[in-house]
Amino acid sequence: MGRPRASLGCALLLCGATWAAAPWLCTVSLERAPEERWLPALQHFDPAFLRAAMSRVIDEYVPKWVNAVIQPIAAELESFVPQPFAGEILGLCEALGFSVGDGLLLNLAYESTAFCTSIIAQDSKGNIYHGRNLDYNFGDILRKITIDVQFTKNGQVAYKGTTFVGYVGLWTGQSPHKFTISGDERDKGRWWENAIAAFLSRNFPISWLVRDTLDKAADFQSAVLKLAATPLIADVYYIVGGTSPKEGVVITRNRWGPADIWPLEPSAGAWFRVETNYDHWKNPPPDDDRRTPAIKALNATGWKNINFETLFKVLSVRPVLNNYTIYTTVMSAAVPDKYMTCIRTLD
Ligand SMILES: *[C@@H]1O[C@H](CO)[C@@H](O)[C@H](O)[C@H]1NC(C)=O
Ligand SMILES: *[C@@H]1O[C@H](CO)[C@@H](O)[C@H](O)[C@H]1NC(C)=O
Repeated sequence: MGRPRASLGCALLLCGATWAAAPWLCTVSLERAPEERWLPALQHFDPAFLRAAMSRVIDEYVPKWVNAVIQPIAAELESFVPQPFAGEILGLCEALGFSVGDGLLLNLAYESTAFCTSIIAQDSKGNIYHGRNLDYNFGDILRKITIDVQFTKNGQVAYKGTTFVGYVGLWTGQSPHKFTISGDERDKGRWWENAIAAFLSRNFPISWLVRDTLDKAADFQSAVLKLAATPLIADVYYIVGGTSPKEGVVITRNRWGPADIWPLEPSAGAWFRVETNYDHWKNPPPDDDRRTPAIKALNATGWKNINFETLFKVLSVRPVLNNYTIYTTVMSAAVPDKYMTCIRTLD
């Protein structure tokens, strides 16, 4: 397809061509109060644009009845929403002149329809690589507000992730030298009904559990346990990579617990796992098969040749890369500085 040759490990060259761009990297200090910590990130954006973008997502995505249920909760945000999420949403809304109810709705709206591809792979030397495409509607808006965020504590990066401005959760993230996580939607219908019921029971939104796990889990094993067992507002696939051989897994989640755990098994030839938006033990629907092209590309690459650059190329094969792809991230917890996100645009 005449794509420019990418240079190994060099984010600027991988992303620097016309078809992809690196997002803005902002710093969120976990030592600041939740209400204040996103303010530096907001300064990079036009508040009027953000308000318009956020309103459009809510108007087009959130059913009216959800609006009616959630607005009153905003008044008691802190009793329904755990910290730091409550404080962060409050602070963002105040800074943007957005109502707290709308801020909460926006954070729930982004939970609902992320179509994605995630890949976890181990090379022949035992290094673990993790890549993901995030596919979503509203590409015209979301490509402009995608950010990489480093969350700092004591002057160090505690964890890192990729999100949209105004969205306090993470669908993609890395705890340095420990593990990486991505989430892919698992939709079984009646998403809003189930999610709101579970939210009112104080279950965690998908992306908040990713952040909480990045913040608290000590290692790959405890991250997997936390992601598998914590009650959620919706089903999801969590893909987790570690730093040692065999540390890679796809967790298929029901709202209340794990439905299936699918690890790498390199000794049996299973050096990678591909998860899109369908249970791995079933065939994907013919009209949305991103799994087979990804597997073909990985087979063709081979485990001797898998690395940041070749994984990025696999994630650039159509239709793994498609009109809805907002960004691609490749990461490896053992080499945290190589975390790289590219915003994808069509040729
Ligand atoms: C990938 O390779 C495996 C192992 O050789 C093979 O079983 C599988 O059919 C291949 N899949 C595709 C889609 O090429
Ligand atoms: C993707 O976008 C291109 C360019 O706008 C268009 O020609 C193509 O039909 C789209 N493909 C799909 C599957 O929607």
